Amino acid sequence: MKKDYALKMDHNDPIGFAKNHFFVPQRKETKVTYLCGNSLGLQHKDIKVYIEEELRSWKKNAVDGHFIGNRPWIDYQEEVKSMLSKLLGSSQKEIAVMNSLSVNLHLLMISFYRPDKVRFKILMEKNAFSSDRYVVISHLKSRNLSYEDTIIEVSPRDNEDSLRTEDIINTIEKNNDNISLVLLPGIQYYTGQLFDIEKITEECHKHKIIVGFDLAHAIGNVELNLSKWGVDFATWCSYKYLNSGPGGISGIYVNNKFHRDFSFPRYQGWWGNKIETRFQMNKNIDPSISAEAWVMSNPPILMLASHLASLNVFNKIGFPKILEKGKLLTQYLGESLESLSSYGSIFKIITPFNRGSQLSLFFHTNGKKIFNQLMDRGFIVDYREPNVVRVTPVPLYNSFMDVYNFVTNLEEIINDL
Ligand SMILES: Cc1ncc(COP(=O)(O)O)c(C=O)c1O
Repeated sequence: MKKDYALKMDHNDPIGFAKNHFFVPQRKETKVTYLCGNSLGLQHKDIKVYIEEELRSWKKNAVDGHFIGNRPWIDYQEEVKSMLSKLLGSSQKEIAVMNSLSVNLHLLMISFYRPDKVRFKILMEKNAFSSDRYVVISHLKSRNLSYEDTIIEVSPRDNEDSLRTEDIINTIEKNNDNISLVLLPGIQYYTGQLFDIEKITEECHKHKIIVGFDLAHAIGNVELNLSKWGVDFATWCSYKYLNSGPGGISGIYVNNKFHRDFSFPRYQGWWGNKIETRFQMNKNIDPSISAEAWVMSNPPILMLASHLASLNVFNKIGFPKILEKGKLLTQYLGESLESLSSYGSIFKIITPFNRGSQLSLFFHTNGKKIFNQLMDRGFIVDYREPNVVRVTPVPLYNSFMDVYNFVTNLEEIINDL
């Protein structure tokens, strides 16, 4: 594999400076290479600065902190939404920042899964992320619907690893009279496959089907154009590619077209009021004409502070530059792995070319053992059953030499098996 290329790319990396502003985990005797941003992003040095600013405001201003200080808490989320809108390709009004992903998916299902006698089916992946599945099952139970009668599962064909868009489209087409909701990931957590969100959305809308996406692995990792594509709703988490900290705050996207539709159910709280009427304590809610209508509680400022600090890194560097480097890094990783003599016999990449930064390596044998040895050598990756090691070079804090070192170490481990 090409070491010269890695050295040259690092030398000329226009955003290479960014990695010096992140904390890489330390071990006493082993240099750590972190390749696990698909699970938890690293901490940027500004996170502490932003959180401390709000701790100071709380200390100095207490309740007045809602209205005074550098960033009054009353509309702290506006700056967050403005930055998120660039990553999501949406308007600010279509975004609300709140709760965690699984909770938000429940809230969105309450509003957007409205089965009737004819249209009641949900199309989702057979291999959906466990929590998404549990969320869906909860809603079936609360409506006395059975999984078998209600869920249409799509999965890769035999001997294939990722789902074909045409198979999703054909399944929608075939069942279009009965499908109420299509719920899919932006990027599949296990395979790293990027779904064709635009095409799937278009097909759903042709048949008046609502379509929503779990963007946990997509936001901050691939280009999204939710408004242009007309996606109905989406949710995500901020602790992976958005580096906002463990359990960091989630958000929702709700397409503009629903903001004035008060016909559907929505779980409400006082923060869903328009800002002008929020504190009038009226008997009935006066919902915000935006995704904020779904917000129930006043926002957790310390979580928003770390989220804002992290989003500001994207804002300052510019998302297109980050994406560009990300593509090259992952391409280098893919090509280097494919050039190993063990490629094909010991392992293969199951991530298709439509992808973000993550590559999923499927090990025919010894997957767990190889994973443990990589970890012992300081390469932090993760393992997902069955037999997959997920490897993610993140453009904000990984270098081409990180990739080079990972692949040479993997090769040594495999040769010593
Ligand atoms: C694809 C996907 N969906 C949902 C979740 C659940 O997120 P949370 O624990 O924030 O609800 C995760 C967590 O990693 C995820 O990867």
